[in-house]
Amino acid sequence: MKKAPLKESQLDLLAHNGWITIDNFITPNEVLAILKDIAFWQEEEAFKQAGVGKLLTHQIDKTYRRDKIKWIEPANCRSNTKKFIYSINNLMHQFQEAFFLPLKDFECHYAIYNIGDFYKRHSDQFNSHTHRILSIVLYLNNDWEAGDGGELVLYLPNQVKKIIEPLGGRLAIFKSEIEHEVLPAKTNRKSITGWMKDQYNDLNFL
Ligand code: OGA
Ligand code: NI
Repeated sequence: MKKAPLKESQLDLLAHNGWITIDNFITPNEVLAILKDIAFWQEEEAFKQAGVGKLLTHQIDKTYRRDKIKWIEPANCRSNTKKFIYSINNLMHQFQEAFFLPLKDFECHYAIYNIGDFYKRHSDQFNSHTHRILSIVLYLNNDWEAGDGGELVLYLPNQVKKIIEPLGGRLAIFKSEIEHEVLPAKTNRKSITGWMKDQYNDLNFL
């Protein structure tokens, strides 16, 4: 799954707008392969109600966030997911060079939004997550169609709202400081969400 780096014009868009989507970042078959990794962890009952904050500040608040997550250990994850992480690391190197960003590490988890689940408006730099620089979401619903819900809404300057449909294979990248929300899912919605950070991962919280 070696991916061509982004084009100059895509880098410019990201730098200028603070966000970008890349359609078909992975193929429908690659989506299916990652879904198998997710199914494995579901079978192991490894998905947990997502919280807000980590370690001592970790809290579950289902009025704010309802997705279930499973953290991915990059060095020790299932092979289909590993290929994706490899391609994200390539992207990270490209961003380091293009933007002179001190990106050091990538942390990510699988996320499942069952019907009715949502994640209210937030920034990904809350609480102790101040080292998150770029947020990355890979969508895994190959058959997503209008009405299925679970769209990502970015709250941009000047009251501009950008709605991103969670189409399978699509990658959304945005500055972690940008506020955003996930609208209620009307069909089960799966994704990998991750962050490029300016600090190395502390593996204790996984
Ligand atoms: C998050 C998040 C967006 C999405 O997990 O912090 O905002 O589209 N996810 O899944
Ligand atoms: Ni978020």
